[in-house]
Amino acid sequence: MIALKINQNIDKHTFSAMEAERINAIQILHHGTGKGNEYLGWIDLPARTSDRLQDDIIRTADYLRSVSECVVVVGIGGSYLGARAVISALRDDFTNEKPKIIYAGHHLSEDYYADLLQYLDTVNYSVIVISKSGTTTEPAVAFRLLKKHCEKKYGPSEAKNRIVCITDARNGILKEIAQKEKYVTYEIPDDIGGRYSVLSPVGLLPVAIAGFDIRALLTGAKDMQDQCTNSKNSIASRYAMYRNYFLKQRLNVEILSVFEPKLHYLTEWWKQLFGESEGKEGQGIFPVSMTFTTDLHSLGQYMQEGQRIMFETFLSVASPKKECVISFEENNEDKLNFLAGKRISAINNAAEEATILAHQQGNLPVMKITMETLDEKSIGALIYFFEYACAVSAYMLGVNPFNQPGVETYKKNMFTLLGKPD
Ligand code: PA5
Repeated sequence: MIALKINQNIDKHTFSAMEAERINAIQILHHGTGKGNEYLGWIDLPARTSDRLQDDIIRTADYLRSVSECVVVVGIGGSYLGARAVISALRDDFTNEKPKIIYAGHHLSEDYYADLLQYLDTVNYSVIVISKSGTTTEPAVAFRLLKKHCEKKYGPSEAKNRIVCITDARNGILKEIAQKEKYVTYEIPDDIGGRYSVLSPVGLLPVAIAGFDIRALLTGAKDMQDQCTNSKNSIASRYAMYRNYFLKQRLNVEILSVFEPKLHYLTEWWKQLFGESEGKEGQGIFPVSMTFTTDLHSLGQYMQEGQRIMFETFLSVASPKKECVISFEENNEDKLNFLAGKRISAINNAAEEATILAHQQGNLPVMKITMETLDEKSIGALIYFFEYACAVSAYMLGVNPFNQPGVETYKKNMFTLLGKPD
């Protein structure tokens, strides 16, 4: 379902040393003996998500779909990017499909919130607020605005039917508000951290509201879970090993390149997953993403001839879901008849192959991950693939994959500036 190809030979000696590090990291992960081992609940999450929970999420989603032209999903980081990644990958580009999904709580733009509230005056909407800690400033600010707007528009009692909370089982201000207001609430399991939570209600509810099949998403993830946890030779762990091999060659930047713009938010999710998991204690590979062919006309020059500080992973989709063919034109004014009869995907594939070749010629090590198509099952498998690879990779580096102590520094400074009471 997911394939990995590496265009790089490693000498025998280095390869066996890296293999030993890879197996060691897998053992640490599977035996739960590593740093952050209280956050390993994601490992068997696809297999242990009950039919009952899935049915319940689908029921809530169906209800919200029936009363909403638009659903506002409030969250940041791991409480936001996974759902957006899956929905963007699956939704048609020019759809009028209802409900429209709008995101909030992922920044602090005053203009955005003023526009959003004005827009919400004109449509029927619901709100899902997602925060594991229940105390993160960005979603808390957005939720204060939206709760007030919703109560004013619908009245306090109907607002309760239109607000759903996804938060910690016991702690946090959001949990307290949800209990007081009696909102429908889903729990984020204690042993699952934000960026590993997309296959929990955090991602499942928004994805179901957008009209996609969360059962298939979990089935794809479960297939990948089986592949990763039943064998020491999973492709996810090999991907982790090659990343660390390139890092040892002083290639400190990984570029995840896609030729399908629908995968843009998947690359944003990937950046957060690897960036927050590995970037600590002066270590880690800096994750960057590019969407081609667009970025070939901006950063392509640097990639080809700039400093050799990076390696590149292509994330490729084997088959498009739709068809669009170039026509033959009698007068051939635009001189494009050499493409007549070809599908756009054939041209895109040629661009991808040509780019891989060019970057290799430019001394850029390349890996390629291929998924069959953009459907729920493949995306579920891809999500699990990256989660598992990230944990193995971070353990190979010797860091805790599941904390993010560095994120606190800006928060502390911001609270001081804003005069937040202790
Ligand atoms: O991966 C993480 O844990 C973080 O990125 C969090 O998801 C993010 O900071 C949001 O936190 P919370 O869900 O507590 O609002």
